[in-house]
Amino acid sequence: MKNIVDKFLPFDLGNEADYRAWREQKLLAYPTRIEELIVEIKNPQQLTSAEFEALHERCRKTNMVIYAGPTGSDPDKAIPKSLGKQFGLTELDCNMGADDDGVTSLKVVEGKWRSGYIPYTNRPIHWHTDGYYNLPERQIHGLQLHCVSAAASGGENALLDHEIAYIHLRDTNPDYIRALMAANVMTIPPNNENGEQLRPARSGPVFSVLEDGSLHMRYTARTRSIEWSPDPVTRAAVEALNDFLDSSSHYIYRATLQPGQGLISNNVLHDRSGFDDDDEHTRQLYRLRYYQRIAGT
Ligand SMILES: [Fe+2]
Repeated sequence: MKNIVDKFLPFDLGNEADYRAWREQKLLAYPTRIEELIVEIKNPQQLTSAEFEALHERCRKTNMVIYAGPTGSDPDKAIPKSLGKQFGLTELDCNMGADDDGVTSLKVVEGKWRSGYIPYTNRPIHWHTDGYYNLPERQIHGLQLHCVSAAASGGENALLDHEIAYIHLRDTNPDYIRALMAANVMTIPPNNENGEQLRPARSGPVFSVLEDGSLHMRYTARTRSIEWSPDPVTRAAVEALNDFLDSSSHYIYRATLQPGQGLISNNVLHDRSGFDDDDEHTRQLYRLRYYQRIAGT
């Protein structure tokens, strides 16, 4: 246990004093309206210092911000990439669906392997954090979305700061946190296709504390292709989390990103409603997954 002596340890269940102090600061003037999270910017590739500070301040408070830029349906991937870079987000995860540059274009794709994966359909996606099936050393700590074009209807994202989910569960029952921090509480079975194993089974905790002391969350609300530890406390913890995610809590934000808008986040919890495209409105979002958190948060 080196390097943690004298550190502030709010996520340590044995340290109630640090938790209480952190919790009080966290909830003090915490934004409860999505409008408070939206920051207008003039040039995403070169933020002014006032714009940067407005975006960064929200990220420090809620682990996320929504920017509204003037680029409309400009499909240049340099727009979200250079924006991410200004927040220290540079190490992109090259997942299976990403183009060579690590940027994934999310839109409805017919007839390719991608159509078997819900992100490439117009179906709803349950609550999750990104990359929950990644290796422990390849966890996603930063997540960015950038809207190029919106659907004719639907395609709304719900967003919840994972630190708020932690507070809700710890306040309900600290044993829930203990259960969800267990090293093998959530297992994703292997991904097999046509007899070939694309990914082995992956086990890991839901909540973990990173070396810098920040909280990481790995979660999916899907009920198929997921195995939870069978003990009653874990079951109750997962149920309490799902109840909170399905509630009308004012901590849950909802936003339908419009062209030129995007999300910068520390991989907060999110879902997506189903949507419909038409001839003039084809939803397209860029997704950028990073191994880093937003710098200075
Ligand atoms: Fe996602």
